[in-house]
Amino acid sequence: MEIITKIADLQQKMSSARIQGKRVGLLPTMGALHEGHITLARTCVDANDCSVVSVFVNPTQFNDKNDLLLYPRTLDKDCALLDEVGVTYVFAPSVEEIYPEEDTRVFHLGSVAEVMEGKYRPGHFNGVAQIVSRLFDIVKPDNAYFGEKDFQQIAVIKAMVKQLGMKVHIVACPIVREPDGLALSSRNVRLTPEQRKNAPKIAETLFKSRTFAQDHTVAETIKYVTDTIDAVPEMRVEYYEIVDGNNLLPVISWEDSEYIVGCITVFCGNVRLIDNISYKH
Ligand code: PAF
Repeated sequence: MEIITKIADLQQKMSSARIQGKRVGLLPTMGALHEGHITLARTCVDANDCSVVSVFVNPTQFNDKNDLLLYPRTLDKDCALLDEVGVTYVFAPSVEEIYPEEDTRVFHLGSVAEVMEGKYRPGHFNGVAQIVSRLFDIVKPDNAYFGEKDFQQIAVIKAMVKQLGMKVHIVACPIVREPDGLALSSRNVRLTPEQRKNAPKIAETLFKSRTFAQDHTVAETIKYVTDTIDAVPEMRVEYYEIVDGNNLLPVISWEDSEYIVGCITVFCGNVRLIDNISYKH
């Protein structure tokens, strides 16, 4: 495995891989890798001849400066894990390398980027589109891998790829959970022991809500999930929305779509956790 920090060096490697007819897979990450990322990395390695994992804490997608400052950075450990999985290249550029000048591009990606996280984290998806489009331009991957924990992010990236006419195939991979159900996240390490003990209540409630939903309306299910989680010490639901899995617009009734997903964000103390569950697919 080779660690590359310069765009020009990676571009050179990528053109020689393409000349050799190699299939290239890209896994974009912000580092602080956990088993969820490692599962994605394995999938990427298995399905491609050349696999690139980018490790870059992208400042333009943080609407909260404190969150950016507190974001865990563990490059040496990340590289050791990726080496074990058999990744070909780790791309770990500096902020100056990626943004030698300010990226002023503004993406208009429609409702998928405007609802939920789009509403609560203004500018977040624009920053995600900036960095992911930049990485796609540099690497020109055949396949790119994203975790379904960030359900809306996948929809936004698919909309961006379509709008820019890029050829990359977006591969969505299932959420990886701790044995107690908590969705793996780099932010989990910031939970206090007490918060960590309570955090699985999010997934537990989402799973229970599937049964609850069988004889309750969408509105009642939203209330059930929100009230149950809000009753846990130090937890506050920021939003719980039950949406059409394709356009991410809220559904009113279970008959509104063949693909229905519930998306939640919860503040656990000051750590913002997200998760989602599918009711119908
Ligand atoms: O999901 C993430 O970790 C980030 O949003 C991504 C896709 C690596 C872009 O910085």
